[in-house]
Amino acid sequence: MKVLVSAASRHGSTAQIAKAIGDVLGSRGFEVTLAPPEDVSALSEFEAVVLGSAVYMGNWLSPAIDLAHRIGAELAGKPVWLFSSGPVGKPSSKFARQMDFDPIDLQAVQKATGARAHMRFPGKLDRHNLRGLQRVGLTLFRGLEGDFLDWKAIREWAASIADQLAETAS
Ligand SMILES: Cc1cc2nc3c(=O)[nH]c(=O)nc-3n(C[C@H](O)[C@H](O)[C@H](O)COP(=O)(O)O)c2cc1C
Repeated sequence: MKVLVSAASRHGSTAQIAKAIGDVLGSRGFEVTLAPPEDVSALSEFEAVVLGSAVYMGNWLSPAIDLAHRIGAELAGKPVWLFSSGPVGKPSSKFARQMDFDPIDLQAVQKATGARAHMRFPGKLDRHNLRGLQRVGLTLFRGLEGDFLDWKAIREWAASIADQLAETAS
């Protein structure tokens, strides 16, 4: 079974999550294509799709939203899973709690893709990737910087997708 794993990433950590999901699916015998959303033109060869995006200012990145709308019609009947990467910071911190909500565009993306489920994973924030006011902001909002990627949760979620696909195939 051919599976597309595609994620929009600005600074690379969401792409790392997509890679980890692809690795788990690959290890379970699925034929995985890993591609950024802007490189995906057609879906006909895929039987299932995992689509994700980093969240910035409450929104998915536009290449992932665009892909959802571009391929929505082609997805009819195919299983789709969505994931978001963000928030950052210690979960108990005030700022992390302020990011603790689903992306604004999620409902529209869910509607366009008919996705089975959506999962949010904590992300990663490196000050070296920030410029200008964003960097200043990080100094004010201490505790947001760091690597909060939860590889166990990511691999478990990917394994649950593999289980569901295996069930569909049998
Ligand atoms: C300026 C800025 C705004 C952000 N806004 C949000 C947000 O609204 N919600 C959220 O959950 N995470 C937010 N984040 C955290 C990012 O989603 C997180 O760093 C993510 O891992 C980045 O993924 P990437 O490395 O693939 O770009 C923000 C990060 C930055 C730098």
